[in-house]
Amino acid sequence: MNKYKIYFETYGCQMNLNDTEIASGILRDSDIQTITSIDDADVIILNTCAVRDKAEQTILHRLDALKFYKKKKSKLIVGVIGCMAERMGEELINKKKIVDFVAGPDAYRKLPEMINDATQKIKRSELELSLEETYSDIVPERNPNISAWISIMRGCNNYCTYCIVPYTRGRERSKPFDSVMSEMELLVNQGAKEVTLLGQNVNSYNDKESGKKFPELLEAVAVAHPKIRIRFVTSHPYDLSDKMIDVIAKYDNICNYIHLPVQAGSDRMLKLMNRKYTKSHYMRIINRIKEIIPNCSLSTDIISGFCSETEEDHKQMLELMKTVRYDSAFMFNYSPRQGTVADKKFEDDVPMETKRRRLNEIIALQNEISREQNEKEIGKIHEIMVESKSKKNPTQWQGRSGTNKVIIFDNVEGKYKAGDLVNLEVYKASSATLFGKVCE
Ligand code: 5AD
Ligand code: SF4
Repeated sequence: MNKYKIYFETYGCQMNLNDTEIASGILRDSDIQTITSIDDADVIILNTCAVRDKAEQTILHRLDALKFYKKKKSKLIVGVIGCMAERMGEELINKKKIVDFVAGPDAYRKLPEMINDATQKIKRSELELSLEETYSDIVPERNPNISAWISIMRGCNNYCTYCIVPYTRGRERSKPFDSVMSEMELLVNQGAKEVTLLGQNVNSYNDKESGKKFPELLEAVAVAHPKIRIRFVTSHPYDLSDKMIDVIAKYDNICNYIHLPVQAGSDRMLKLMNRKYTKSHYMRIINRIKEIIPNCSLSTDIISGFCSETEEDHKQMLELMKTVRYDSAFMFNYSPRQGTVADKKFEDDVPMETKRRRLNEIIALQNEISREQNEKEIGKIHEIMVESKSKKNPTQWQGRSGTNKVIIFDNVEGKYKAGDLVNLEVYKASSATLFGKVCE
C-alpha cells in the first residue's frame, strides 16, 4: 500500500480542515503518505462541505476539472469525503463517474480499505454515522505550524431548521477530557503557540466519563498551558453560560474573542429557525460579555432571506447589528437544504432579488461598523502573534491580536518570526485590517 500518495483538498469550515488532518493521520498509520503536490498524487480526496448549495456546486465543478488529471494518469483514484459525501452518498458515485469512493465524517477509519478496494475497481460508499466516534486515539497529521486545532466534540443536536449539519455530522459527542489534555500536551511539545478548540457547538461539550463541561475544559487547558493562546469556536447562544464568560475573563491566555452566531434579528425568525433563544436572551449574553470582558471582540453569522422573512424582520436584523456592533460577520443568503425541516415544512418564498438586496444592505452596514470598530483601535497597543508575510506587501508581516484582528507591521530586517509575540501600536485601520508600529 505504501506506494500510494494522497493529495487532500479541503472545503468548508475549520472542523473540516482538522478532519483532513485526522484522515491523513489514519492513512499515515496505514503507511499511506499525504503529499502537497496534486500532480504527483495517486489518490485525490476532496473533503467537502454541504452547508449551502454554492459550496456543493463548487465541488461538482471541481470533480469535472479533475478529469484532466485522470486523463494523465488512468489509475488515479478520486474520493469524496465529508458533509457533501454524507448527504449525496451513492448519488455522487452515479452522477460523477470519476468518483471511486465516498465516505461520511464518521467513516474515515475505513479509508485505507476503501482506497485498496478502489485499486480493484470496487466502488464503495460508507455513510454510517456514529454515536461514539471522536477519533480520540488518532494523532492528526499536522503541518508544523504555530496554530493548531483540536476537535473537542463532533456532531450537532440542535436541529436549526435550515441546517444540514445534524444530518451530515450526526449526533453530538465529546472527546474525552484526558484525550483533549494529552493532545494539547503533544501540540505544545511540537511547537504550537496557539490552539483552537473546535466543535459545532463547543458550549455543549460534555465528557461522559468525568462529567466535565466546556468551562471546566477551557479552564483546565488555560491553566495547564499559560503561555499558549487558547481560542474556541463555535458557541451557540442558547447554552453559553455565565461561567464560561467568567473563565474567559479570568485567564489572559484565553483570547478575548467570541464568535456568537445570531442568524436572525427578530424573535419570529429565531423561532422559525429553532434557535431556542430570543433576541432579549441573546442581548443579555452580549451585554454580560461587554460588562465582564470590556475589550472582547465579537463576530457572528447571519442568514438573510430565510422563509417568510419580511421587511420588518430584516429591519430588526439591521437594528440588532447596530446595537451589538460586531467586529466582523459571516453573512449568507438562505440556501434551502434538502431533508431539513425548513425545506420540508416552509416555503423558500423571499424572491431572489429581495434576498440579494437585503444581504447587500447587511454587508454594507457590517463593513461600516467593522471600519468604525477598527478605527477605535487607533492609538492602542495590541500584543500580536506573528503569523506570516503580508499577502499584499512582502516587506510587511502580519499577525493576529487576541481579539482576532489582523495587524500589518514592518518586520525590519526580518527581526520577528512566526509565533513571536510583538506589541504593536495601531496607527491606521480599514474595515478588514489594522496597521501597527512595533513598540520596542
Ligand atoms: N443557508 C445559508 N446559510 C446557512 N448556514 C447554515 N445553514 C445554512 C443554509 N441552509 C450558515 C449559518 C451557520 C454557518 C456555518 O452557515 O449561519 O452558522
Ligand atoms: Fe447547524 Fe444549528 Fe447545529 Fe450550527 S447549531 S451546526 S447552525 S444545526
